[in-house]
Amino acid sequence: MNAAIAPTVTLSNGVEMPRIGLGTWPMNDAEAAVGVEVALNSGYRLLDTAENYANERGVGEGIRKSGISRNEIFITTKFNRKWHSIEGVHAACEASLARLKVDYIDLLLIHWPNPDQDRYVEAFQGLMLLQKAGLVRAVGTSNFKPAHLQRLFDLGLVPQVNQIQFDPYHLRSDLVALHHSKGIVTEAWSPLGGSGNLLQDPIIAAIAERHACSAAQIVLRWHIQQDVIPLPRSLNPQRMAQNLDVFNLSLSEEEMKLLGGLERADPDMLDADQFGH
Ligand code: A2P
Repeated sequence: MNAAIAPTVTLSNGVEMPRIGLGTWPMNDAEAAVGVEVALNSGYRLLDTAENYANERGVGEGIRKSGISRNEIFITTKFNRKWHSIEGVHAACEASLARLKVDYIDLLLIHWPNPDQDRYVEAFQGLMLLQKAGLVRAVGTSNFKPAHLQRLFDLGLVPQVNQIQFDPYHLRSDLVALHHSKGIVTEAWSPLGGSGNLLQDPIIAAIAERHACSAAQIVLRWHIQQDVIPLPRSLNPQRMAQNLDVFNLSLSEEEMKLLGGLERADPDMLDADQFGH
C-alpha cells in the first residue's frame, strides 16, 4: 500500500497528469475490476480506458474497491465515431460517467479521427463545451495524424493530449515534433510494442543488462525521458509494479540515441486515415 506514486506533467491548461498510466485494453469488466484495484494499490494513478474496450464498468468497480479517493485518480476514456457531433459528445460523456459511476472525467479523447465521416472538428468543439461545463478536466485526441491536428489548429483549437502508437519501432518523429511545437502532451499506447517482438530486441536487452533491469523498464524509461506518457498494459501484478518502477533509472544520451535508432517499417501499423471505430 505504500507504493511510490509517479510524478506528474502539467498539461497546457494547468491540469496535472501522471507521467505513466495503466492501459486496460483488452481487459473485460471482471479483469479490469481486479487489475485496476491491484494497479492503484501498487501506485498507478492514471487509468486509460475507452467506450470501445467495453470495460469502463470494471474500471469504475476497481476504483471503488481500491478505496483510493476519486480526486487522487486520473481517468482517461475515449468515445467512438457515432458520437462525433456536439450533442453526441455530450451523450457519450454522460454514458461513460454512468458506466464508470463517477461525476467527472479527467481526460476525454476522440478515439479515432474517422476522416471518412469528417466530423472530428465538431467532436472537438463538443469536447470543449464539456470542459467548460466541468464534466471533463482535459480534452484531447487519439490517433490523430498531422493533417487531422492541422484542421483543429486552423480553427484555433489545440488538444491538451494526443494519444498515439509510439515505441522504439514506431517513432512518429514528425508528429511528436508537432506536439512539442503546440504544447500537446504525447501519450503512447502499446509502449512496449504490443504483441510484437520489441522486448526481445538485442540492443534493448544489452542496455537492460547494463542497468540490471528488464527490457520493458528500459523502453518505458525511454518514453519518460522524452516526456512521452506511456500506458503499458499488463494483467500480471509483478509486471505492473515493475513497469511503474522506472523513476530511479536514467538512460545516457548514447542509450537514448541507440533506442531512437531502432525504427522500422511496419506494414501492419494501423493508419488513422483507413482505420477507426
Ligand atoms: P502480460 O499482460 O502478460 O504482462 P503494450 O503495453 O505495448 O500493449 O504491451 C502489452 C504486452 O506486454 C502484454 O502482452 C503484456 O503481457 C506484456 N508486458 C507488460 N509488461 C511487461 C513486462 N514488464 N515484461 C514483459 N512483458 C510485459
